[in-house]
Amino acid sequence: MEKLKKRIVQDGSIIDNRLLKVDNFLNQQIDTALIMHMGREFAARFADVQADRILTIESSGIAVAMATSAAMGNIPFVFARKKKSILMEDDVYTADIYSYTKEETYTASVNKAYIPAGEKILIMDDFLASGAAALGLASIVETAGSVVAGVGIVIEKTFQPGRAALEEKGYRVESLARIAAFVNNKPVLVE
Ligand code: G4P
Repeated sequence: MEKLKKRIVQDGSIIDNRLLKVDNFLNQQIDTALIMHMGREFAARFADVQADRILTIESSGIAVAMATSAAMGNIPFVFARKKKSILMEDDVYTADIYSYTKEETYTASVNKAYIPAGEKILIMDDFLASGAAALGLASIVETAGSVVAGVGIVIEKTFQPGRAALEEKGYRVESLARIAAFVNNKPVLVE
């Protein structure tokens, strides 16, 4: 998606030559027009799969999942929580996810009522790096008796093993911008 790539080049900054900081349009301040555009792009790319529902994980996946839901005719979208809420029922699906970036494991959970069996569920997230978050969400979908309709990612780091891990499991991955490397503190975008 050209608009997104331009924005990454214009506003992204690189931390430690390994992380792309895009806080001013994706991870903290949200550019609504750009996010809505992403939603339409995902809806077009996944039009053939006729997803019933979208599953993402808090916090940065929520905005783009909502935009995609709107572009797909307001299909339900659900986010997994990283911390147990006091309002959360005990009846939850969980997945332990190791964050390579933060070097810690957390338990993602979703109320069972919001992940029914027999659906085609699209998984979405902001970044694809190790693939741990998407794999955890996929395990929740399959435990529930639904199928993974695909994985939609805003920014993929192609030098990390996320896509290979997901494709090995048979999941289709669509990403809107792909970064092949960071060189001299600049992202090298895949055309
Ligand atoms: P994964 O996302 O593929 O599972 O890989 P990893 O374990 O490496 O990522 C852990 C967290 O770091 C995730 O966010 C992921 O989105 C984020 N991340 C990975 N690479 C980058 C990067 O280059 N730039 C930025 N900004 N984030 C990156 P999270 O902990 O789930 O955070 P959040 O969604 O609550 O913001």
